[in-house]
Amino acid sequence: MKLWGGRFSKSTAKLVDEFNASIYFDKKLCKHDILGSISHAKMLSKCNIISEDESLKIINGLKEILDDIESGIIEFKVEYEDIHMNIEKILTDKIGNLGKKLHTARSRNDQVAVDIRLYLKEEIITICQLIKKLLITLIKLSEENIDTIMPGYTHLQRAQPITFAYHIMAYFQMFKRDYLRLKDCTHRMDFLPLGAGALAGTTYDTDRDFIANELGFKGICENSLDAVSDRDFIIEFLSASSIIMMHLSRFCEELILWSSSEFDFVEMDDSFSTGSSIMPQKKNPDVAELIRGKTGRIYGNLFNILTIMKSLPLAYNKDMQEDKPLLFDAVENIKPCLEIFNEMIYTMKIKKDNMKKATKSGFMNATDVADYLVKKGLPFRSAHEIVGRMVLYCIQNNKNIEDLTLEEFESFSSLFSDNIKDKVNIKTCIEAKISMGSTSTNNVINMIKKGKNFLYTL
Ligand code: ARG
Repeated sequence: MKLWGGRFSKSTAKLVDEFNASIYFDKKLCKHDILGSISHAKMLSKCNIISEDESLKIINGLKEILDDIESGIIEFKVEYEDIHMNIEKILTDKIGNLGKKLHTARSRNDQVAVDIRLYLKEEIITICQLIKKLLITLIKLSEENIDTIMPGYTHLQRAQPITFAYHIMAYFQMFKRDYLRLKDCTHRMDFLPLGAGALAGTTYDTDRDFIANELGFKGICENSLDAVSDRDFIIEFLSASSIIMMHLSRFCEELILWSSSEFDFVEMDDSFSTGSSIMPQKKNPDVAELIRGKTGRIYGNLFNILTIMKSLPLAYNKDMQEDKPLLFDAVENIKPCLEIFNEMIYTMKIKKDNMKKATKSGFMNATDVADYLVKKGLPFRSAHEIVGRMVLYCIQNNKNIEDLTLEEFESFSSLFSDNIKDKVNIKTCIEAKISMGSTSTNNVINMIKKGKNFLYTL
């Protein structure tokens, strides 16, 4: 007999039981379900809806069930459909008819909503810790590479020289925003849906603030219809997760490129690389590739839930049961991605000499030469034109700008004087970027300092 079997004259088909059940995956919420029920039972007696003695017996029963689950002796059953009804059934088997009082003044609709919020709030704390670890690694890498010069790119073409520390600190900003975005979405999910009942509230004089306080929510959902219909918090989490994965994926893409012989800027540690089953010489950046690949999976989960929710009339619809596999999948994938990515960059070898060598070609000092002429009074557009012609001359004569003689410089503009030779030095070009937030050493040191100050606030 189903817990809701009263109005039925036949039992459900076995196929339907299996199809309808969510216990396969929502058993993950068992701890949160029991914690929610314990607070609910406390509230019921506090509000004189059940007696104190009844409440204590229910709570003790629930605590025993939690212990039993943890020691692995409980077997959930598909015929009881989901974690909520499985636990209620186990409770009733344990403490008798009293167990049937637990569901007074609530519905599975508010119950599942509170379970997911409790679960997700906890997981976000873990994910934020992982981002924090990554931020610490980025600071360490930057500090070790203040003087490591490399090409900066646009369109994947050498553009202007920068330092590796500057490049790494760009990612620091992205992951800092990711951290704050996750914290921000926690604030909005920090309201208690329990007590909403099925959709309209309940006829009991309950104390929802009491439960909110017990379960660590900062408030209650104001509208019960919204409380049971809302999955925005999952969507926000998956949006924030998609952005995190997008950042990891861009970084992985760079590491994959940089690991190629064509770049040869970094080498992954052997413990973070894989070989080929046929080509004995191969060392592949599989880990970075797999993180890049899993990004698609997290985006997929976001689109999955957005699509599920887009045409659901208020309030609960069974479609919403599909929210959990995709949420769990996202959480279970983003955590190892962050953790392994952090270890991978912590252990990778940075080939400083190769990075520096790469700055020797590509005319990355061309903008600096144009700026030189501007500071001598030429409008920028005219300076751009002159330097463009100089670059063409260099290409035709197989030279770098810094190889040109003063006479050659002067043949393009009489504004050039002897000090141009210093100005085109790559290191000088980096240090000449004096605007706030630029690649020059002082600016990067300042960025690292600010980054560390941010970490102290976490
Ligand atoms: N297993 C359900 C879910 O995950 C719980 C809520 C069921 N509520 C209902 N009225 N069928 O969404």
